[in-house]
Amino acid sequence: MLLKILGAAAGGGLPQWNCGCINCQAVRQNRAGISWLNQSSIAVQAPEGDWFLVNASPDIRQQLELLRDAQPLSIRANPIAGVILTDAEIDHTTGLIILRESAQPLHIYGTEIVKKALTDGFPLLKTLESYCGVAWSNLNVGATVPLTANLDIEVFALAAKAPKYMRSQNIAGDWVIGLTICDRTTGKVVTYAPGLAKLSDRLLARFEASDCILVDGTFWQNDDLLKLGISTRTARDMGHLPLASEDGSLHHLSQLKHPRKILVHINNTNPIHLANSQERKIVEEAGIEVGCDGLTIQL
Ligand code: MLT
Ligand code: MN
Ligand code: ZN
Repeated sequence: MLLKILGAAAGGGLPQWNCGCINCQAVRQNRAGISWLNQSSIAVQAPEGDWFLVNASPDIRQQLELLRDAQPLSIRANPIAGVILTDAEIDHTTGLIILRESAQPLHIYGTEIVKKALTDGFPLLKTLESYCGVAWSNLNVGATVPLTANLDIEVFALAAKAPKYMRSQNIAGDWVIGLTICDRTTGKVVTYAPGLAKLSDRLLARFEASDCILVDGTFWQNDDLLKLGISTRTARDMGHLPLASEDGSLHHLSQLKHPRKILVHINNTNPIHLANSQERKIVEEAGIEVGCDGLTIQL
């Protein structure tokens, strides 16, 4: 399989439109070895050649242009065979509406709870019915779903945090899932977990059994946003395990021996974006990469 990071930033991107943090200003001023990053999304190409998008960010139009090999050769063709959703958050779903020009119903994979959210709370699916339509495939936690004859995804639970727009409905469930993507031709396995609320031995074993992992790098410490005075919510309140805080993810990820480890969904405020920061140094010395747009992995 071929995997490409289309957006390594979290919701808001880098820079975020209303943000004047050190990182956002550095990008605008073109300094400190920091560059523009799109919002969270990856694409994976099956051995048969079909591309699948995992999460549809608001930056989708530019992101799909990164899939050069997938561009239409005829007057109308769809560069992607399907869109897989790991949750119903705005940053992972808004791009669906940009795909409304599709000549065929959009093939979307997601859990039942995500389908409900995108029907009732943020009614993208209902809206798309008046355009291209949607062909929905359900993902169930614990199940393995074939995307093609040679590419499977295994679905596992990551967090119980509902998107803000669904909170008033108080629906409990596995709101955030992760995916283990398996290529039957090479036997290679990638695990994608952009919304990691906590680590368990079981999850760490899944990571260790993967050849590459793309993991939530949203926040450096639990109180990143509190310290900046821009939120009263901690990283953990938001369903993101911080990297460096006590019992954060960094220590555990650094212990993994087998997989290539790459951080994704990195918030614009995270100091690891800065090439010369102490925090970036700590991450790299732990054998972990900071994801960037366009990074391509052949497995
Ligand atoms: C998240 O990753 O926690 C969400 O995307 C936050 C948001 O932008 O609403
Ligand atoms: Mn997000
Ligand atoms: Zn910022």
